[in-house]
Amino acid sequence: MMSKHDFIERNSMVLLFFILIVVAIGGLVEIAPLFWIQGTIEKVQGMRPYTPLELEGRDIYVREGCYLCHSQMIRTLRDEVERYGHYSLAAESMYDHPFQWGSERTGPDLARIGGKYSDEWHRAHLNNPRSVVPESVMPPYAFLEKTPLNYSDIALQLKTNREVGVPYTDDDIANAKRDLEAQVNPDGADAAGLQKRYPHVNVRDFDGNPKEITEADALIAYLQMLGTLVDFSTYKADAPGNNR
Ligand code: HEC
Repeated sequence: MMSKHDFIERNSMVLLFFILIVVAIGGLVEIAPLFWIQGTIEKVQGMRPYTPLELEGRDIYVREGCYLCHSQMIRTLRDEVERYGHYSLAAESMYDHPFQWGSERTGPDLARIGGKYSDEWHRAHLNNPRSVVPESVMPPYAFLEKTPLNYSDIALQLKTNREVGVPYTDDDIANAKRDLEAQVNPDGADAAGLQKRYPHVNVRDFDGNPKEITEADALIAYLQMLGTLVDFSTYKADAPGNNR
């Protein structure tokens, strides 16, 4: 036995081979069960997939690289919870592909930015951050409210998200374009269907320009819903209702 071990230790490639096998066993034991355990992501009441408009807004958030300066992940540390609100739950990013947790906070965490400011504030802030926060180092994004939103492929986007596990129904996909338009048009007739498909949806003109659906509409709609879906006045970690 010892002599065999001697052989392994003297031949680096053989040693490497056995090291890989041992490490692989360790990795499998630790990682593989996570793919099957139901409780890896605790189910939480209130979570729903993004509306078509919010999904477009999220795409703009990713395109503009907002995640380079902003995290969307409130840690379970006291100072974070006091500043930003309830710590983030895994379920709150379960429909994010890719997730936006980020790793850098040049600006504040945005996981619960929804409802913190008015649409008007976001508009002013995106146009010129220094108009509302004089010491801000955030770049301006004034072109967003001048750029019409291109949503011709929105149904396909929902479909693609469904491929990777977001539970959009055929109904959601068939109505994607109409739902997107209904969300910025509070007087329209289509809002009822949208509200039925996406509970707690904000329906209003987000960019202050009812004539056109712009990229600012989509981005502000997305920002205004972030972190607002779970009702933390009733949420209890490990409560039976939350685990179903
Ligand atoms: C270069 C880094 C940087 C980038 C990129 C950036 N931000 Fe910011 N952001 C900041 C900083 C710094 C602040 C804090 C000062 C302020 O409010 O402007 C901030 C603040 C904010 C706030 C207010 C947060 C609060 O709680 O008061 C929002 C909302 C926001 N950013 C959204 C965005 C969005 C959306 C994008 C992408 C379109 C973006 N930011 C891109 C640096 C950045």
